[in-house]
Amino acid sequence: MAFVLPALPASVRVVEVGPRDGLQNEKVQVPTEQKIRFITQLAAAGLPVVEATSFVSPRAIPQLSDASAVMAGIQPLPSTMYPVLVPNMKGMERALAAGVRSIAVFTAASESFTRHNINMTIAESLEIFRPVVALAKREGMGVRGYISTVFGCPYEGDVDPHAVLAVARALLDMGIEELSLGDTIGVATPNQVYDVLALLMGEGAIPIDWLAVHFHDTRGTALANVLVALQMGIHSVDSSAGGLGGCPYAPGAAGNLATEDLLYMLHGMGIQTGVDLEKVVAATRTIAPYLGHMPTSKYFQAHEASSITA
Ligand code: COA
Ligand code: ZN
Repeated sequence: MAFVLPALPASVRVVEVGPRDGLQNEKVQVPTEQKIRFITQLAAAGLPVVEATSFVSPRAIPQLSDASAVMAGIQPLPSTMYPVLVPNMKGMERALAAGVRSIAVFTAASESFTRHNINMTIAESLEIFRPVVALAKREGMGVRGYISTVFGCPYEGDVDPHAVLAVARALLDMGIEELSLGDTIGVATPNQVYDVLALLMGEGAIPIDWLAVHFHDTRGTALANVLVALQMGIHSVDSSAGGLGGCPYAPGAAGNLATEDLLYMLHGMGIQTGVDLEKVVAATRTIAPYLGHMPTSKYFQAHEASSITA
């Protein structure tokens, strides 16, 4: 009897979140010109989406307080989108003034996290997004919606997948065309990925094309989770060059799934991304000296170690 792996997508769209999700969780303040260089190298590596920064309160995320200067310094490639995070109308106005053409709004599936992160209830966050999303649509901008704590909350523990579905529906009803399902604290295991995706696609009737997955590798399960998501038809995956970003709820722990590790697995499986892995390594190498620690990407570490001994 021949065993075959379930069908996998022929190609995956890799959404690079290092300059935003990565750098917002690093302790250091990376100089603006280095951020611009990093973003430029990532786009040149062929990444179709490079999330560039956040127009949030500079008191909430001081690491990204130079958002306008970062956007002003990017020479955009036509092949790459450079979305930014926007929490409210003030952020949207700043983003528009900076020439942004694509945004992401963000809420969570658990109330306590939403309160700590953006000082609102989930329902309040949805009301605040509504006019922001409407304005973005009038401007012809793409809008992504992030849902944090999909697989677990640092304050509440387990999260009911039905809570995820309710937030997902509310965001889609607003006209958002892409949802990123975030394992904010890196606790998900593959069975949970199956459960959440099956609920969203089954009971929720949400088309797979509208969903992306966003894993953190805090407990080493990120790639296993990606594999299950791919087997369920997901073809949009978030990752961070070098694995940049820690976890504020687990100081010192690994952050986002590393773009290099993701690309290595996808390319090894014959899945196209259009991204040059070695060029992503080069981008990580540029930013690494500013972080104060070795990037956590396993591929990057193996690559750098083998080039020292070679
Ligand atoms: N950009 C810049 N400044 C902003 C802002 C924005 N998008 N939104 C609010 N502010 C400023 C206000 O002007 C106000 O400034 P002031 O005190 O000098 O008058 C101050 O921030 C507080 O504004 P308020 O509306 O009361 O917001 P808040 O204190 O309840 O904070 C958020 C709410 C959403 C603005 C804040 O929690 C935030 O930016 N969170 C982002 C967190 C994040 O990015 N997490 C990671 C992504 S998952
Ligand atoms: Zn994240």
